[in-house]
Amino acid sequence: MSIESRVLHDFANQQHLLGITDHTLNAIVNNKPGYSVEKAQKFIHFHNRIKSELLHHPIITNNNFTKWFSLGEMSETQLRSFVIQFSVFSNLFLVAQLLKTINANGLESMRSSKEILVNELGVVYKNDKQTTDCDSLVSSDGSIEGGIYHFRAAHFEWLLQLATSVGLEFNDVGKRRHGNKSTLFFCDELNRLYANEDYTISQASSFAVENWAAAGFWKELINGLTLYQKKYNKGIPLFFFTRHDDIEAQHAKHTLDELEDSYFESEIDEDLFISSGNEILDAVAVFWTGLDDLRKTVLQ
Ligand SMILES: [Fe+2]
Repeated sequence: MSIESRVLHDFANQQHLLGITDHTLNAIVNNKPGYSVEKAQKFIHFHNRIKSELLHHPIITNNNFTKWFSLGEMSETQLRSFVIQFSVFSNLFLVAQLLKTINANGLESMRSSKEILVNELGVVYKNDKQTTDCDSLVSSDGSIEGGIYHFRAAHFEWLLQLATSVGLEFNDVGKRRHGNKSTLFFCDELNRLYANEDYTISQASSFAVENWAAAGFWKELINGLTLYQKKYNKGIPLFFFTRHDDIEAQHAKHTLDELEDSYFESEIDEDLFISSGNEILDAVAVFWTGLDDLRKTVLQ
């Protein structure tokens, strides 16, 4: 630990500010406008509220569909119906992400939205670690600035590879017409909340969605697909799922820091943040419950 970070650590200890990032502590010590010990204590209180009133949402703590899926006991028909609904969500998410970009409340947040949108479409994040051709399609860290476009790096193409391996064709997946009621409800709620013009609502939705995505459901899906492959001795490209699992780990690291930054830079309506976050998680729950109902009704 450097002398500077030891001084900040001691300061955080004395002022009961453990958990606050070093750059915020630095700003408090240097009397940056908007930054104070009181505000930091308020943020810690807000973060505790988020943990207890938002992050314990049942869809984060208990997802019956992914729990079942992780056992790998699905039939091919059940797997196909899952892939179709997931492809609709994945493709329509592009619409929500574009709307979010348009509705950004500043250049910085517009650029953050574009990072996600354009990466979804196939621009690979550029970073210092890329050394080979193979790496150029799979980077999960860095920026789209100066990145290279590859059709094959579009997330939809990864999912299409998986879809074709289980007998689906291009026109069987990804369109609104393929979505069932609960999938479409979720996609429409993403447009309404995640891409909302009110920055608190869109920020709360992003925060909730990122925490949902980082809570382990990608790993459960990967486990299920891996077991399914072994059971039927079948090769299924898992790239779409393994890549997202890697990307989420990166995103999750940043979300709390971003929230902390905007808490100090602007005023956040805490109640609106908590209620909007819960609203989008309710919609996430509708999506997964819809998948759970579907797998019980499709042929085994
Ligand atoms: Fe994606």
